[in-house]
Amino acid sequence: MRLALGKPPARVDILHGIDLTVETGETVALLGASGSGKSSLMAVLAGLERPSAGEVQVVGLDFTKLDEDALAVARRGRIGIVLQAFHLLPTMTALENVAVPLELAGESDAFDRARAELAAVGLAARTGHYPAQLSGGEQQRVAIARALVGRPALLFADEPTGNLDTTTGAAIMDLLFARAAEAGTTMLVITHDPALAARCARVVELADGRIVADTPRA
Ligand SMILES: Nc1ncnc2c1ncn2[C@@H]1O[C@H](COP(=O)(O)OP(=O)(O)OP(=O)(O)O)[C@@H](O)[C@H]1O
Ligand SMILES: [Mg+2]
Repeated sequence: MRLALGKPPARVDILHGIDLTVETGETVALLGASGSGKSSLMAVLAGLERPSAGEVQVVGLDFTKLDEDALAVARRGRIGIVLQAFHLLPTMTALENVAVPLELAGESDAFDRARAELAAVGLAARTGHYPAQLSGGEQQRVAIARALVGRPALLFADEPTGNLDTTTGAAIMDLLFARAAEAGTTMLVITHDPALAARCARVVELADGRIVADTPRA
């Protein structure tokens, strides 16, 4: 699989010959140097970017064959995503950011569940704040709450503890793994944190857009 972003001549080949199968319920850490293609691979797997060649089978669907609307429907309620740049909606409060995807999915108790999820990430006192009024680590936790609140079958997280101090990062890790165990969630986590990688069942390493190591935890 090769992923090209942008139109020619801005085309950049980022991923090459990726062949990766992740089993349901598996937890995978994705490691690699900065620029090795981790976020790009996650974007392809989550259906946020389209590869220029290859197939992407997720939740029984070939993501390369779906249009934007079909992809959005396929993701809704099934796939939670925490991006490296949190992508919170600036005009919505923390609570609204977490609740709105649930509301869109037709859940009637969206705001109650969003409030509980924000409490779980330690932000019970920040529900009414807008993203600009939150620290980087707080914004990251809102993004995590938003990804978890729909109880997704598949969770993608790009450096979910990257902006957090050791204690808060450990608490968030506990939450992610507890949820994954509880719901049998398949989890793909990009991380530079050895402690986080060590908790995953499998470690996949990228270099220059290729998988160079794929190791089950001993
Ligand atoms: N939209 C884009 N257009 C062109 N090139 C891009 C785009 N996004 C990423 N790239 C390039 O693709 C390569 C891989 O980027 P990617 O963001 O996947 O790396 P990464 O492994 O996530 O790095 P980091 O650890 O710094 O987040 C980099 O060389 C980057 O410059
Ligand atoms: Mg990245």
